[in-house]
Amino acid sequence: MFAGAALACIAAVQSAPAAAQAKIVAEDEPITPVPEPPAADPLKLALGARLFGDVRLSTAGNLACASCHDIRSNGAGGIRTQPGNAMPVYDTLTVFNAALSFRLGWQGSFRNLAEHVEASLENPANMNTNAEAAVRRLQKDPDVTSRFRAAYGRDLDRDAFLDALVTFERSLLTPGARFDRWLGGDTSALSPGELEGYRTFKSLGCSACHQGVNVGGNLFERQGIFRPLVVGPPRIVRVPSLRNVAATAPYFHDGSAATLEDAVRRMAAAQLDRTLSDQQVASLVLFLKTLTGNYRGAPVVGAAP
Ligand code: HEC
Ligand code: HEC
Repeated sequence: MFAGAALACIAAVQSAPAAAQAKIVAEDEPITPVPEPPAADPLKLALGARLFGDVRLSTAGNLACASCHDIRSNGAGGIRTQPGNAMPVYDTLTVFNAALSFRLGWQGSFRNLAEHVEASLENPANMNTNAEAAVRRLQKDPDVTSRFRAAYGRDLDRDAFLDALVTFERSLLTPGARFDRWLGGDTSALSPGELEGYRTFKSLGCSACHQGVNVGGNLFERQGIFRPLVVGPPRIVRVPSLRNVAATAPYFHDGSAATLEDAVRRMAAAQLDRTLSDQQVASLVLFLKTLTGNYRGAPVVGAAP
């Protein structure tokens, strides 16, 4: 289905004048480019950035959002979970582009960023607190409270606290991936090999699940349709985004695939009943590497081991 559309698109591009090319490429494709971050009040944004790195958000005073979500690398690297908890351990999802997904978390249980922040705060395996208690701790800091008054025109309260964090999270977008430049009409942004990888991605049917602005993040699917993928719960997950996927190893909700090659091979078997050749795997990986975008102008990079 997608293969036909892709070929039609290539044919059209070859004969179309430059201005029309960009339009044709973008309109026919199942993936759309990551936008620039939305305009935001700089005072609220700065407060949100500060809260994101503030350990007073956790009861024990030992964890900030940034402890697990390092935005200097891939938005996911950092410690993986708190030691000694009995909660299911899921691989850390990146915060980059999370604002563009229709639901949040591996299971897609959260409908928006504010709901998700509250859940992170309340999770005993995470910050083990709640928004009210975090606000009470922050209210003791005159610098923080005066910044809230300047940004919100009122004293620090629960809504302003959540709004500042969410404003910051909405800014964590990574536009400018080479694939997005190609979508925008820059036909030289992808090599022939990368373009071939993209065609394979569509013709095999990967894009039936991984599509839209986040190349995922907009559907629920069963994992392990034809063959087991991750044994054990959850069976139904939100299809994860493949944005910046070359920088976010390990893969799958249990982190059981160490490399992109391994993840791609297991995906094809489990979700599409296909056994890929080494060449197909390499080709798909070439394409996936073009999905790496820029945060504040610098390319997203893998977390330090
Ligand atoms: C102890 C490590 C840890 C801390 C601290 C932490 N997170 Fe996370 N975060 C995770 C893990 C693990 C997941 C995936 C969990 C899941 O889906 O069940 C996740 C998921 C997310 C997601 C969802 C991404 C997506 O694609 O759906 C967002 C957004 C996020 N975290 C933001 C935050 C914010 C904001 C804070 C601070 C209030 C925070 N996190 C604190 C580990 C952490
Ligand atoms: C039927 C839907 C479906 C199809 C088709 C599909 N995927 Fe997936 N993909 C998923 C789901 C669901 C997950 C998450 C599995 C889990 O961890 O529980 C996933 C995870 C991934 C991951 C790991 C992402 C991460 O951050 O951990 C990669 C890479 C991936 N898919 C690539 C592909 C490729 C390449 C293809 C085509 C060969 C493909 N997928 C086909 C649904 C699909």
